[in-house]
Amino acid sequence: MSGNFLEEFDGYQEIAQATQMSRKYGADYSLDRHGADQFINRLHPARIDLRVADVIPETPSTKTLRLVSAAGPLPPFQAGQYLALFVEVDHVRTSRPYSISSPPNQIGYYEITVRRVEGGLVSNYLLDDVGPGDRLTASGPAGHFYHNPLCHQKEMVCLAGGSGITPFYSMIREVWDCGLDRTIRLIYGNRTVDEIVFHDQLTSLAERFRNFTYRPVVEKPAAGWDGPTGYITRDLIQETVGDVSSKTFYLCGPQAMYDFCLAELAALGVERRRIRREVYGPPPAITQAPGWPPEVSAEDLFTVTIQGGPTFTARAAEPLLTGLERAGLATPSLCRSGECSQCRVRVVSGRVFEPAGALVRRSDRRYGYVHACVSYPLTDLEIAT
Ligand SMILES: Cc1cc2nc3c(=O)[nH]c(=O)nc-3n(C[C@H](O)[C@H](O)[C@H](O)COP(=O)(O)OP(=O)(O)OC[C@H]3O[C@@H](n4cnc5c(N)ncnc54)[C@H](O)[C@@H]3O)c2cc1C
Ligand code: FES
Repeated sequence: MSGNFLEEFDGYQEIAQATQMSRKYGADYSLDRHGADQFINRLHPARIDLRVADVIPETPSTKTLRLVSAAGPLPPFQAGQYLALFVEVDHVRTSRPYSISSPPNQIGYYEITVRRVEGGLVSNYLLDDVGPGDRLTASGPAGHFYHNPLCHQKEMVCLAGGSGITPFYSMIREVWDCGLDRTIRLIYGNRTVDEIVFHDQLTSLAERFRNFTYRPVVEKPAAGWDGPTGYITRDLIQETVGDVSSKTFYLCGPQAMYDFCLAELAALGVERRRIRREVYGPPPAITQAPGWPPEVSAEDLFTVTIQGGPTFTARAAEPLLTGLERAGLATPSLCRSGECSQCRVRVVSGRVFEPAGALVRRSDRRYGYVHACVSYPLTDLEIAT
């Protein structure tokens, strides 16, 4: 046998020549691996340190927080994405997502616009206790609620409810600041006139730009209101938009608004594939949701055991994620509305309620995983995190 026994194998010479060429003329990109990691981490950081630069009152119940970076440049985002803020309030470590209301072409700061929720833990904290100079920790920008020019139409119809205006305010300003070739028809529902966020700014934009239509609608109008009243009905949509074909529809607001508008759009013949949605959290009255077992009441308490770990008590009408956080058990989360899979846990024994449309991957479901942010205990549980 010759000195190198590998030469006996078919194709050896070709492989040896290719290796020689690579060594002579090729570049070893593995040397740059850490440079690439650094770049990717700048674009998609897991956490960002922010400082509150300003607080801008918008309505009696809503303020905008202007947030600048406390370290390094802010990562870019798509208009419509959100940040999850990580906070500790009343000794509970938790998070809440807030859509970025400033446009992505403004690279010096992010703005989030927060509306007070009666009895809510984090909205009240942000509105009452956070001020200029305070530091906040957030996730990088996240979410899939944005215009994708590859598969969405240039004609956008945006249906907003309450604080659900925020991603649209970012989209609208990007379109006009950057002169993008798009049309936006916005129908924006609120309970009362003084709850309409960005009303003056939106009215002024609609007066200046032919490609932007603004239709505010209020449920309980004050004297002198001459705009539409009630909900975002099929008639109002038809009247504002005209022909509904070749348009992409974007819905953002509470679950009740989404359920209502979806039925109206279906009645107008808008296919589900042309509807994009962002729901602002789990349904508020979960025991009223279709399929909730009548024998379980909202205040029923169940014991939840973490496999090989502690035990805590959870209330039937509270998402499992909230129970975990109250018990001091850190659980990853971003969207808190069942979409991002960060909070998934495996139910080893017992039953949970998941509202219709809970977005759990088929493979996850097969192994008993649920999204803790939209799962409610119906029995004692054993879970694995
Ligand atoms: C993708 C996304 C983007 C969002 N963007 C925005 C935005 O731009 N602006 C904005 O204002 N909001 C936004 N939200 C909503 C926001 O994340 C919060 O859900 C909202 O601020 C309420 O949080 P909270 O902590 O104040 O209320 P929570 O404490 O979560 O309470 C919510 C409700 O549950 C009730 N509740 C809480 N605990 C209990 C209990 N133990 N028993 C009975 N009832 C209870 C409260 O009374 C309240 O009615 C967004 C949500 C999502 C999913
Ligand atoms: S936090 Fe996103 S799915 Fe629960």
